Amino acid sequence: MTENALDSLRNVTKIVVDSSDFKSIARFNSIDATTNPSLLIKSISDVEYKGFIKQVSSKYFNLCSKDIARELVISFAEEILKVITGRVSIEVDPAVAFNTKRTELEALKIVESCVARDIPLERILIKIPATWEGILAAKKLEKKNIRCNLTLMFSEIQALTCADAGVTLISPFVGRISDWWKKKGLKWESSCDDPGVKFVRSVFIHFKKKKYPTEVMAASFRSVDQIFSLAGLDLLTISPNLLSNMMKLPPKKNLINWTKNADGQKSQFFEKNQTTIINQVNFLKILASNEMANQKLIEGINIFKKDGQKLIFAVDNES
Ligand code: E4P
Repeated sequence: MTENALDSLRNVTKIVVDSSDFKSIARFNSIDATTNPSLLIKSISDVEYKGFIKQVSSKYFNLCSKDIARELVISFAEEILKVITGRVSIEVDPAVAFNTKRTELEALKIVESCVARDIPLERILIKIPATWEGILAAKKLEKKNIRCNLTLMFSEIQALTCADAGVTLISPFVGRISDWWKKKGLKWESSCDDPGVKFVRSVFIHFKKKKYPTEVMAASFRSVDQIFSLAGLDLLTISPNLLSNMMKLPPKKNLINWTKNADGQKSQFFEKNQTTIINQVNFLKILASNEMANQKLIEGINIFKKDGQKLIFAVDNES
């Protein structure tokens, strides 16, 4: 039954909860869930989770702090899986984002721990920052049937390289792109003109046109308007706050008209780069020419890296 705007959205798009707060996400009936180091820091700072951190830290007391922190992240994911029906994204330590081998090894450690916990591999997505090195690691992991979610995506070249590498899912970031342009003084009236929304629409339209199997999941939302503007996408990962807001709104009609207007969503990039060969030189050259994407990717890795360090300090304080 369609009782509110979230139900309307659910009818056209797979809803994902963007949270590690496993004690409160069941009420959203989301299929998948996404976590990241910043969300985990938010959860562990909550007094509700004090006991949980203690419990995990003492279970893995014989490991070093870095390994305990990884087990803590996986323990959150394990609990989340009890209250959703689909997959949970677990992020690799972003400190290794520019190293293919180390990203692959980190991912394999997560997989090993999931196997030891009897978590079916189809229920996890290894979340990796979409650097050249990260995408290469994902390509190798996908060949081993380890599914990946390539995150911190701000540019078409990252998206295209991921499709070329055969990754399962990409997470283009809406809000962080809008934040950057707002700071630059850009203004727009309607969310259809929001640069974050326009970027994700063009990626989605291009992927469907080319029949790439890679799923497109928009992430990083600042408003319900941005979310409604992307209804019809494969998946949308949304924070508990915005999910709650949508539950208070009446049902919405005609949510996905924009997907029919493929011409209106065309991106100059995809038009221009039809024959561009995907290799490291072209990837880095094209990424470097996009000031926003370049800055946001580096900034995103640094923020997640810092929060990853905070997780290690937190388990250190427990032991
Ligand atoms: C989800 O996968 C992303 O990590 C998340 O949506 C980022 O959101 P933010 O830009 O609000 O931090």
